[in-house]
Amino acid sequence: MRVDVLTLFPEACQPFLESSIIGRAVRSGLVEISLTNYRDFTHDVHRSVDDRPFGGGQGMVMMCGPAFDAVEHVTQGCETPPTMILLTPQGERLNQRLVEELAESRHLVLLCGHYEGFDERIRIGLKAREVSIGDYVLSGGESAAMVLIDAIVRLQPGALGDEKSAADDSFSHGLLEHPQYTRPRSFRGMDVPEVLLSGHHAQIEAWKREQSLKRTAERRPDLLSDRESESGEQA
Ligand code: ADE
Repeated sequence: MRVDVLTLFPEACQPFLESSIIGRAVRSGLVEISLTNYRDFTHDVHRSVDDRPFGGGQGMVMMCGPAFDAVEHVTQGCETPPTMILLTPQGERLNQRLVEELAESRHLVLLCGHYEGFDERIRIGLKAREVSIGDYVLSGGESAAMVLIDAIVRLQPGALGDEKSAADDSFSHGLLEHPQYTRPRSFRGMDVPEVLLSGHHAQIEAWKREQSLKRTAERRPDLLSDRESESGEQA
């Protein structure tokens, strides 16, 4: 998979992309991630990427020119059209289902905005999908792009040491994950549930599922209703 991140702050993204699971996936060639600065596609002496909004209003708006030129630069020679994504609080809200869908893409181009937003013609002209990571406003799309990349890269086959662990993640079956424990068996008076030490595989699986359902019912009952309406399955 290839991911191009278009940003005004590549230096803010670089360390994140070199660390942990993403860094390992990049180093092993599972995913190729490139950072491109819009400012390298400006033609005026000030290297402007934004301007005042027509019709007045607060703040500045990302201009079309640098965004289109940067996209054309990263997509030249591409045989199949990449999936274009604008990170914006007005977009489709990111969830595990959308992550799974985007993880199937061969080539993603992520456009990070700054200032008050993108000139509308960027979205229209690039036929870009808009994605939001939640109902709050960030000062730029970079942290949102890093969230999206993290969620997508861990789904790439081979990205996690243990192939099963992505399938066990919270949300992967529409439920939150069960509680986890590791050594020691007893810590400050808190004990690991007996069943996990029993070695009884079927009982352990039943406990995990029950805990997962209980936790989801307590914390995110909306997820249970979503599952029921999707599959008719009763929790
Ligand atoms: N840019 C600013 N806020 C954002 C959000 N919530 N999601 C994605 N991109 C953003």
